Amino acid sequence: MQGTIESAVAALDRGEVIGLPTETVYGLAGDATNPAAVRRIFALKGRPADHPVIVHLGDAAWLDHWARDIPPAARQLAECFWPGPLTMILRRAATVSDLITGGQDTVGLRVPAHPVALAVLRGFGRGLAAPSANRFGHLSPTTAEHVRAEFGADLPLVLDGGPCDIGIESTIVDLSGDRPRVLRPGNIAAELLAAVLDAPVTGGAAAASPRVAGSLRSHYAPRARAELLAREELDTRLAKARREHETVAVLAIGDLPAAAHGLALPASPENYARGLYAALRTLDADGVNCILIEAPPSSLAWLAIRDRLRRATAR
Ligand code: TXA
Ligand code: MG
Repeated sequence: MQGTIESAVAALDRGEVIGLPTETVYGLAGDATNPAAVRRIFALKGRPADHPVIVHLGDAAWLDHWARDIPPAARQLAECFWPGPLTMILRRAATVSDLITGGQDTVGLRVPAHPVALAVLRGFGRGLAAPSANRFGHLSPTTAEHVRAEFGADLPLVLDGGPCDIGIESTIVDLSGDRPRVLRPGNIAAELLAAVLDAPVTGGAAAASPRVAGSLRSHYAPRARAELLAREELDTRLAKARREHETVAVLAIGDLPAAAHGLALPASPENYARGLYAALRTLDADGVNCILIEAPPSSLAWLAIRDRLRRATAR
């Protein structure tokens, strides 16, 4: 069903779960104050119950309902980056359910920038729990079609907000401790947060916290085996695949090597991120044994992309 904002708000009011576009990836959204709705999200995703979900808010003014002891840094970051692709981990307000937080004393909060998400949130008037709309361990969806393909009749209402502008999940910054710490890199770099706060922000992407589902190494994986390799290694690897009758596809940057089957994503990190998950899905659907992914540059601008590719290629 191609829902409207009104039908989505009505479904959420009935405790149902919907597919919701955001600027990062599509979410599987339900009333964060309704335990049955949150349980339904977990059941649909097949996600372990101790993994916390992000609560999406319609405005930074809703922060005080969901968090307590909110540090000035959080207000500053909200002012600067919300609505936008930044999730803040804060100490939870007493009313926030253990289902949302995975039993922790903290809660993840974000005001998304997508106009459809904001219209639904503001029409609904309460927080929406919304993890990425994929089954546990699968690639995040960046179109309504991806969500429909993933859940089919299990998820009757998916709002179509077009392809996601950012294409990879939000930056997660933990503000519940002594100093800000990035738990998951994203479009907003730790360095940018540090510049706004005029304080150090540690970027613990590699220092994986087991609390963050996205930090499991095998997360965000396509079905096919995926290998990360340098541009200059591609030709040798392709020749080996031909010799061994292995079916491979290449995900290249800028242009495809001659005679290679696959796709090329743009050489700018923003445009690459926007197309990444859709490209991996397309190559995966080809039924190849292996996806050979050209490694992006090692510069800071590609950090979040390298993080997702590392996970996609981890086994
Ligand atoms: O861009 C995004 O953040 C998307 C869109 C839909 O907003 N959402 C998303 O949600 O990626 P999800 O559930 O797939 O990933 C959220 C991550 C998880 O790894 C979860 O463990 C972590 O946020 N998280 C949520 N609450 C947390 C908390 N209190 N402490 C630590 N990690 C938390
Ligand atoms: Mg996810």
